[in-house]
Amino acid sequence: MAKTSDGWGSRIGLVLAMAGNAVGLGNFLRFPVQAVQNGGGAFIIPYFVSFLLMGIPLLWVEWSMGRYGGVRGNHSTPFIVDSMGKSRIWKYVGVFGIFTNLGIISYYTYIESWTLSYTFQSIFQTFHGMDRQQVSAAFNTYAGIHGGLKDNQLDINFPVVAIIVFLITLGINIYILSKGLSGGIEKVAKIAMPLLILFGIFLAIRAVTLGSTGISGCSTCNSHVGLNFLWNPDFTSLANPKVWLAAAGQIFFTLSVGMGTIHCYAAYIKKNNDVALNAMSAGWMNEFVEIVLGASVVIPIAVGYMGLDWVKENAGFMMAFKTMPYLFNQWGAILATISGVAWFGLLFFAGITSSLAMGTPFMGFVEDEFGWGRKKASIVLGFIILILALPTILFFEYGVFDEYDYWTGTVSLVIFATAEIILFSWVFGLKKGWREITRGADINVPVIYKFIIKWVTPIFILTIFITALVKPLNGEMSDWQTAFHQLFSKGTWPWANDSIIAQVFHLKEKIIYFKNGTPTAMFFKDMSRLLLLSTFLGLSYFVHVAAKKRKLKAKKIAS
Ligand code: ALA
Repeated sequence: MAKTSDGWGSRIGLVLAMAGNAVGLGNFLRFPVQAVQNGGGAFIIPYFVSFLLMGIPLLWVEWSMGRYGGVRGNHSTPFIVDSMGKSRIWKYVGVFGIFTNLGIISYYTYIESWTLSYTFQSIFQTFHGMDRQQVSAAFNTYAGIHGGLKDNQLDINFPVVAIIVFLITLGINIYILSKGLSGGIEKVAKIAMPLLILFGIFLAIRAVTLGSTGISGCSTCNSHVGLNFLWNPDFTSLANPKVWLAAAGQIFFTLSVGMGTIHCYAAYIKKNNDVALNAMSAGWMNEFVEIVLGASVVIPIAVGYMGLDWVKENAGFMMAFKTMPYLFNQWGAILATISGVAWFGLLFFAGITSSLAMGTPFMGFVEDEFGWGRKKASIVLGFIILILALPTILFFEYGVFDEYDYWTGTVSLVIFATAEIILFSWVFGLKKGWREITRGADINVPVIYKFIIKWVTPIFILTIFITALVKPLNGEMSDWQTAFHQLFSKGTWPWANDSIIAQVFHLKEKIIYFKNGTPTAMFFKDMSRLLLLSTFLGLSYFVHVAAKKRKLKAKKIAS
């Protein structure tokens, strides 16, 4: 157990660090793309409902779980959940709270490194005078993407500069982590958060005032068309399970719930200090950045120059790198440079404040259980991230990056959130749980949330989980009807390729590992799964060792 000397220096520092944990690449790259791919305004209502019924409750639950565990000397989820549940199994469920972060941080830091590089490239005006194809090609060259796998040839992406910048970015993260909470993370959050909001406001104003760009032959080339598309609510989406799944997934990722970072940060809060208001401050700050700023940059600007149809067809997180510099070029050299620095600088700050949070659960664990110092913990963490990240860089085009994102950035979050809400509301018990949420609270937590946390949130998350598990075809309502019809008439189920079951068993793909002696994408996919699984099992082993150590220590004290 911990004899930690670490802690938060101030309340504002804690809230900014927690907000920084939530505000990330997801707000600016994932949210707009999810919104566009799910019908724009159609996405917004399920998104808000998911925030109110799942996001807010999970924030309160995770903050209070973290403080509860921290008061008892536990600063990472295995032993935080262990202190709340009676069964020995809980600490292994808690492994998700470290594992998920190691998985996400590995590919996340890589994107973060792109933003760092692109900030400098904007300063040096690398993209000056380039047309759209050239900007896009420049990105492919940077990331070593050769555009499609070739037969009988091993397509290793080996982007030397990108790897060097990745190592620098990882080094920056590790250095800050080694400085601790108040000496590192809090200081960064106090600078990064206000700056990113400032940059975001600048770009949002630019987008909102852009209006029609008058591009000939393009009637929708108007930033207001983009904004309208995102903000015109469409109530029919309420009956579309596909949109609900996407909206709930976005809430998980953007708030960093089900991840383990919130528990870890909250574990350094004192017993009687507020969690209720702090959780809301950080959570709503994230929502402001996401729905006000995140929605007002990429999509409206891209629609302004490329038109709505183009954006609908091409929306993807790489648009930030492959298209934005070209769009900024339309504003003249000076404004293009300023906008490039604001955009990529903002992304870098958003990214680093999140990746730092993802590093802390591992640090908390080894410091608590094995008495490691911060320096040793952060260096070992750096090596683990490097080992996990290299396959996502080198085999990018084989889909390893996406594989990590699917398992750790999507599935794991839902699994852990399902477990923790059951633990909190039903095993630990909501009576005690409510006392934890409201102890020291600086706001009146609406009593309705007692009912929501006990019933609505668990049922909501379980429904999302089961839906994701067995999603049929495209996941639309009509697909579910077809699926049930097929189930009763033929006894089969039309799995969606991205349903969890279809993914686990490769139901929609042929399993071929080698073709003419060359490994296939399937091979790399399964190898990356094996790596992730080994990471999970390795962590579980160390949790087992830690538990044994604790028992031995308790025995010694007793005798
Ligand atoms: N919450 C972080 C993000 O949105 C992980 O990127």
